Parts: sequence; structure tokens; C-alpha cells
Amino acid sequence: MKDILQELENRRNQARLGGGLARIEAQHARGKLTARERIELLLDEGSFEEFDMFVAHRCTDFGMEKNRPYGDGVVTGWGTINGRMVYVFSQDFTVFGGSLSETHAQKICKIMDMAVQNGAPVIGINDSGGARIQEGVASLAGYAEVFQRNIEASGVIPQISLIMGPCAGGAVYSPAMTDFIFMVRDTSYMFVTGPDVVKTVTNEVVTAEELGGASTHTKKSSVADGAFENDVEALAEVRRLVDFLPLNNREKPPVRPFFDEPGRMEPSLDTLIPDNANTPYDMKELILKLADEGDFFEIQEEFARNIITGFVRLEGRTVGVVANQPMVLAGCLDIDSSRKAARFVRFCDAFEIPILTLVDVPGFLPGTGQEYGGVIKHGAKLLFAYGEATVPKVTVITRKAYGGAYDVMSSKHLRGDFNYAWPTAEIAVMGAKGATEIIYRADLGDAEKIAAHTKSYEDRFANPFVAAERGFIDEVIQPRSTRKRVCRAFASLRNKAATRPWKKHDNIPL
Ligand code: HXC
Repeated sequence: MKDILQELENRRNQARLGGGLARIEAQHARGKLTARERIELLLDEGSFEEFDMFVAHRCTDFGMEKNRPYGDGVVTGWGTINGRMVYVFSQDFTVFGGSLSETHAQKICKIMDMAVQNGAPVIGINDSGGARIQEGVASLAGYAEVFQRNIEASGVIPQISLIMGPCAGGAVYSPAMTDFIFMVRDTSYMFVTGPDVVKTVTNEVVTAEELGGASTHTKKSSVADGAFENDVEALAEVRRLVDFLPLNNREKPPVRPFFDEPGRMEPSLDTLIPDNANTPYDMKELILKLADEGDFFEIQEEFARNIITGFVRLEGRTVGVVANQPMVLAGCLDIDSSRKAARFVRFCDAFEIPILTLVDVPGFLPGTGQEYGGVIKHGAKLLFAYGEATVPKVTVITRKAYGGAYDVMSSKHLRGDFNYAWPTAEIAVMGAKGATEIIYRADLGDAEKIAAHTKSYEDRFANPFVAAERGFIDEVIQPRSTRKRVCRAFASLRNKAATRPWKKHDNIPL
């Protein structure tokens, strides 16, 4: 009996070594942790339960039958993050470069199936040379099995991808279909075709970092939702994010203890809006002052900075925030910001996370670049996302809400539940100057007349009261009381039940 127990321990130790000490050292030398070290940091101490530790590949080509390491390049299982269950897979670069074989894929599929069945998020740690070259089409089939599960799990359980090494070729499409992608600076990259193929086909000379590093994907392509300095920071931040999320689409987000008075007044907000309507201010200040303990987890911080998206808690409950940022492009909506916010709104709606919208938007960005790029379709994504969202929606207009952008930003007409405005709000079809030049075209040569018309248009429309008269704004509120108002609004909406007509699915303008 003792021998058998020892045999099990020996096998386990062998499996834990993955591709061996030399490769583990090489992994460390690159500033990367091993697959198992990453799981240890991600999960609560001692909570990891492994599946399929002894699975080995079945390939017999290219002499592969002589090299059948336990685990087959991926560590899978489940554990907890602050006591809440998650499933995890972590590719082991020390075993065949973390490449995906038929059996490696089967291990991932097994935990994805269990995650959907048991209603818990999947966190995938990617560090892989892609399809196991020796296995050919069996490996491609394995990828597609994972893809299909990503699709079926979408909107059912949160799916989070960490890119902690190479992720190339078709392999990128599994993370691409998950809810969030986080990368590690300097040690991770994602691309469909690598620098060599790019050079051959397009003659462009580009490094792997330039083509698909963290900076590229967080600032330019928007493929990634965030980037961190190293493995340790990335894993700690994913733990923080998971704390904001429900485990599945049938559960409410977790309620955390909070030590911040919901009725807290913030007198400094009374002077947040500058006297000059064209002077920017930092919308993040408002978000931080509204949130419990000023805690804000930002999504896509470095992309389309004219809109801010992320999670806060109000009275301990998760709320998704979408806010125009007047500091960048005057906070206008454009292609990138519409796409970014639309995806975020849809995530919140899929997982029953209420949405707080903070509005200061002068309109959509004009120009051929925007029109040729399809701003009509992209802007419609955000409009569509807000209109279809049935979660509690609370909106605060701090300053500008002009034109179509007023409608788009969770207006009353898109079934906003509470639509508040600060006294500094300006809600109109367009700015006074532009409006005057159109309605009083005959007076264009007369500066005095135009100034008088502009002033009278401003007096009439550059305020929240015209909208409030019609009930499009539920209440004009003191800026200092915003946290109290918003907390009470969400509290009153906790049992909100909204239904939509039956359909197979909608046809959002993709
Ligand atoms: C089998 C692989 C492998 C792969 C790496 N290895 N990638 N084995 N299949 N895809 C092995 C190497 O042979 C090596 O084994 C070990 O992993 C470490 O690799 P190195 O090359 O020494 O590491 P490094 O220098 O860091 O380079 C990493 C790399 C490179 C850039 C990922 O290995 C690479 O280019 N690999 C091939 C990538 C690729 O073309 N994959 C297929 C893409 S197509 P030893 O024993 O020497 O340590 C694809 C399609 C998916 O993925 C489609 C889905 C629909």
C-alpha cells in the first residue's frame, strides 16, 4: 500500500515539473512565472483542485510517442478567488512550448463544460506556441472545439483571458471571444500572422512587440482591455476584477462590505464644472468621488480615452460606469469610443450589472475620417446597446448633452430609469453658435445681431430646465448630492423587471 501511495506522489512530482527544471529556469529568466506558479497567485491559497494531471498526448508521428509528459502542456482545474469559485486553465510553455494538441484541447474543454454547467467564470492563462505542429489537423480541431465553447459560454459565465507569452495564429481567436483580455508588458504578444509572414506578404518590417505587444493592443487595436507590468501584477488585478463580477448570468454581482456613507455629500463637486463651458475638467474625479471608497476598476483605460468605462461599487454593489471624458476630444463620441462603450454596456447587461452613465458630450466627432470609417454604424452600436439593456440605468448629465449624442447616452427615451441633470447641464440640438448661424442665416454679416441671437438661444436652451419641463430629466440635482441620489436610485431599482419581445437574437449593427 505504501508503495502505491509513494508511486502516486512520484507521478505527481513528475507532473508538477512540466518540461523540466532547465525549461522552468528559462521561463523565469524571461521574467515569466510557470503555469503552476501563476495558478497559485491567481487563486486563494490551497484552493486549487487539479483535473487531468496525468493526461498525455496520443501522437505517434515524428517520434512523439517517446516523449509523453504528464499534463500535456496545460494545467487545468478549479479553485476560489476570495472564496468564490472559478475554473482555470494555464498553458505550460515548458512542455512543447505550451502548444495545443488534441488532448490539451480536451482538458480545456472539460473545465469549460464544467464551468458552464456549474455557473462559474473561466480564467484562461495563455502562453503557447499555438497549434501542436506534430499533430496537424487534430490540433486545429481542438482549437475549434474550444472556440465553440467560448461562443456558447458567452453571456452565461464571465470569461477572462490573460496573455502571458506568445499567442499567435488562430489561437488568438479564443481570447478574442472572451469578455476581457489582459496582457503583460514586454513578455506577451498576440497576432494572427507574425513579423516574418508580414514581411513576406506586405514588405513591412515590424517587431513582434510593435505588431502585437501590450502597447499595440491596449492603445491602437483595442484587442486588449488592460496591460500590466508583470505576471504578479496581472494576476492580482484579475483577482480584483473577479470581485466585481457575478459568477454567472443567473446571479447578481456580489455584495461586498463597504465603509463609505451612501449619503456622503461632496461639496467639491459643486465647483467641478468650470465657468467657461469650453474648459475641460477631469470626469474621473467625479467617478472616484461617487464610488465606494474611491475604488474604480477601469476597462480599456488607454484606448478611446474620450470615454471612460469601468466598474465601481455603490453600497457594496457593482455598477458599470460609462462616462464622457471632456479632457480628451472634448468628450465627443466617435467610432472608437462608441465601440468601446457599446461592448462594455452589453457585458453589463448580459451579467445583470446596473449601469451609471455620466454625460458631458458635445456631439459626434465630425469629419471624413469618421464618416468613411462608418461612424453611423459604430455610433448605432452604442445606441443599440443602451436601448436593449434592461438592467437598471441611471444617468447624470453634468454639462453638455447635444444632438444625437444626448439620445445615445442612456437618455430617458432609451428607457433610462433615472435621468438626472446638474444645474450646469445644457441639453439642446446643437451649440448656440452653430444653431444661430443656421436659423439666422440672413443676419450672418451682422456680428451684433448674431451675438444677440446666440445669447438668446443660450438663455433659452443651454440649461436642463427645458428637458425637465417635459419630464425627460427626472430631477435637477445639486452636484454635491450626486452620490446620495445615485445610490438611492439604484437601491430603488433592485427589483427592476423589464421584458423584451421574444426573438432569437437581435441584429446589433456589428
Ligand atoms: C510544437 C512547439 C511549438 C508548436 C514551440 N514548440 N511551438 N512544439 N508545436 N507550435 C516547442 C519548440 O520546439 C521548443 O521545443 C519549445 O516549444 C520552446 O520553443 P522555442 O522556439 O525554443 O521558444 P522561443 O524561442 O521562445 O519561441 C517561441 C515561439 C516559437 C515564438 C512560440 O516556438 C515558434 O515560433 N513556434 C511555432 C509557432 C507556430 O508557428 N505555431 C503554429 C501557428 S499556427 P524544445 O524541445 O526545443 O524546447 C496555429 C494555428 C492555430 O497556431 C489555428 C487555430 C484555428
